[in-house]
Amino acid sequence: MEIRIVPLPDDRKKPKYTDESALGFGKLFTDRMFIAEWKAGRGWGDARIEPYGPFVLDPAALVFHYAQEIFEGLKAYKWSDGTIALFRPEMNARRFNISAERLCMPEVPEELFLQGVEELVRMERDWVPSSEGTSLYIRPTLIAVEPVLGVKPSEHYYFYIILSPVGAYYAAGFNPIKILVEDRYVRAVPGGTGEAKTGGNYASSLKAGLEAKKKGFDQVLWLDGVHRRYVEEVGAMNMFFAYEDRVVTAPLAGSILNGVTRGSVLQLADTLGFRVEERAIDIEELMADVRSGKVKEAFGSGTAAVISPVGTLCYKGESCSVGDGGVGQLTRKLYDRLTGIQTGKLADTFGWVRKIA
Ligand code: COI
Repeated sequence: MEIRIVPLPDDRKKPKYTDESALGFGKLFTDRMFIAEWKAGRGWGDARIEPYGPFVLDPAALVFHYAQEIFEGLKAYKWSDGTIALFRPEMNARRFNISAERLCMPEVPEELFLQGVEELVRMERDWVPSSEGTSLYIRPTLIAVEPVLGVKPSEHYYFYIILSPVGAYYAAGFNPIKILVEDRYVRAVPGGTGEAKTGGNYASSLKAGLEAKKKGFDQVLWLDGVHRRYVEEVGAMNMFFAYEDRVVTAPLAGSILNGVTRGSVLQLADTLGFRVEERAIDIEELMADVRSGKVKEAFGSGTAAVISPVGTLCYKGESCSVGDGGVGQLTRKLYDRLTGIQTGKLADTFGWVRKIA
């Protein structure tokens, strides 16, 4: 599709960040954004890259009332030779459409998704940070903008992409975080929207997250919504537990997100000689294995979170250190391998990186 480029006036150019170590996550946005519109009876059109700025939306727009919204998260990296590379963007394009289907939204053709991401990142390449642990976070989003109060799928949508130069997702950086196993609230149930990347899943996780923060924890680990017994995910991350010779993670059974980083970690762990098990994880058994030291390491994975070591798990009032509570060897190795491939320091034998500039 042809993308119209709307000129960026000098007075809309933002001051560039000066300190890459102070970027944090998702606080700063680049000069431009991509947008395309879908209308019933016409389909996709009016694709453009325009100055970053607020939308004017009707207060009755469906997204504001019934949360018809989906999003994605992926990253661009600047290599030491100046190359700009994306990590597995086609996986995000595919998952976007799985979310779209669940929320009765129109499919965004993979070519349009990738074209929008690539053209925008190319134009904004000066915003991609290059120091260790930084990247350009890419947030494709689809919202329902038809102004009507009846509960129904919208007949008008915006597909837009914004970019944010980022550092670590957690303030702790690559240091072990503390996780509370949530046994009161639930995130998803079979047949629900747990597998879709939709805003409502995150809105309904806020209460548990706040309560956990008050108790001194960084995140909650969700249990399945039916039995409150099987480990699911940590909102912004999929979870892994490493034993002596195997790595265990929850299966993709419809209520957790099919993480792009999750899939990559499973492949990397396999090449490191670990047996990989995707299976139901009973929280009581898991805690017993943490207590006895059989579980050597725990970590989460996500585009924003990358690989985040977990030092403490707390379930029903009992806090247990995982291993010695520090960053485990496998966690460190997986982090180094993954980020090494993403940043061009290690050879990409998997065909994961897509150089775009
Ligand atoms: C990501 O890792 O890209 C996510 O979307 C998690 C997020 C809620 C920050």
